[in-house]
Amino acid sequence: MTMAPDSFRQWYLARPIEGEFSPDNFEMRTLPHPPLRDGDALVRVRLLNLHPGARFRMQVGLVPVGTTDESNFAFGEVIASRNPVFSEGDMVACQAGWQDYAIIRSDAESIGYGPASEAVCDLNRTRSQWTYVMRPELVARWPLDTLKEVFGTSGMTAWFSLRACGPLEPGMNVAVAGMTGSVGHLVAQIAKAAGSRVVGFGGGPDRCRRISELIEVDCLDYRAPDFLDQLRAVFPDGIDIFSDGIGGPLTGAIAPMMKRGGRLLAYGCADDLHAGGNPGLRGMTLRQQFGISDSVEKIVAERDIRVECWIVHDFYHERIEAEDALDQLLREGAIKPVVTVVEGFEQLPYAIMALYDPKALSKVQAWF
Ligand SMILES: NC(=O)c1ccc[n+]([C@@H]2O[C@H](COP(=O)([O-])OP(=O)(O)OC[C@H]3O[C@@H](n4cnc5c(N)ncnc54)[C@H](OP(=O)(O)O)[C@@H]3O)[C@@H](O)[C@H]2O)c1
Repeated sequence: MTMAPDSFRQWYLARPIEGEFSPDNFEMRTLPHPPLRDGDALVRVRLLNLHPGARFRMQVGLVPVGTTDESNFAFGEVIASRNPVFSEGDMVACQAGWQDYAIIRSDAESIGYGPASEAVCDLNRTRSQWTYVMRPELVARWPLDTLKEVFGTSGMTAWFSLRACGPLEPGMNVAVAGMTGSVGHLVAQIAKAAGSRVVGFGGGPDRCRRISELIEVDCLDYRAPDFLDQLRAVFPDGIDIFSDGIGGPLTGAIAPMMKRGGRLLAYGCADDLHAGGNPGLRGMTLRQQFGISDSVEKIVAERDIRVECWIVHDFYHERIEAEDALDQLLREGAIKPVVTVVEGFEQLPYAIMALYDPKALSKVQAWF
């Protein structure tokens, strides 16, 4: 059992992000631990999950200078507890700042995501959709990176989205945007395991080749001048299911290739986020943010295409069902999670920079 330390280390935003991220934007400090109050549990953070939202929050000032990003998804081990929900030795999913130890509480709501539903609160035994004890059998079976990637928000988004877009039938044509990314590479593998004919998209031949070799799904370079022709050649009858975490012009280009009665999973806006913007700040609805523009709406209406558009915590009360299904797929070898790992607490500023490095596939996880 790890001894509770007197102090913890924290990276904080020391200078505003202007243009590109740089290690100079961050500084590390050591702070004393406050004594644990009733209801507190002290977690030794083992992994921080860095994602486009983290970069965005820092870019637009949602993480004020002088503070750490407290909403970051994390995994950690409980090393001391004054809360009956958390026991020493538990592995917990939580939100933690960029720090090596964090205090969590079961009565604390999520940071930055609004309140959890009552059903989620009952399941998690906490007030946050993102704070719960990981099931010991999963912790015993899978390494940390798999736990976070597959049983965290990416795997959940992939699994619930395909369920919502289902039933998936063998031979269905499934196109997956952002297959070099965290959610997309899992969507592609789950659809393939169901017997669908899957083709994903990636940015550039090298990224396409690498992800394709790792997960054994064909990948088209969406930047190639003849990309749409290549896609038409692969799916001459059209697309049954389009999984799209990208939005923007890509959604507009693919929607006309969808079949009548097809299903469009619109779950993200990587096009905007990767360009340093966020349509949420422009007063758009979630549907608009995720690429369902007026012209896409017209196609959707004309062809009776079902659109699924939500934030994954809407389904977290059914998390156990998804965990069991994903666990089974992992055990069958049907899904191989891909993550980019940056090791060492000292490396955290480099981890956020690595997020959009073309060499990095999928999510960047910082381990320490
Ligand atoms: N609704 C929800 O609950 C939910 C849950 C999880 C994630 N999300 C959102 O879904 C999106 C994807 O999440 P993620 O975790 O998979 O992100 P990610 O790991 O950063 O992957 C996103 C992928 O998008 C691709 N991309 C970026 N700009 C593009 C463009 N202009 N055209 C085509 N592809 C582009 C990138 O591929 P290349 O580098 O190869 O171009 C990248 O691999 C994000 O917006 C995220 O916030 C939503």
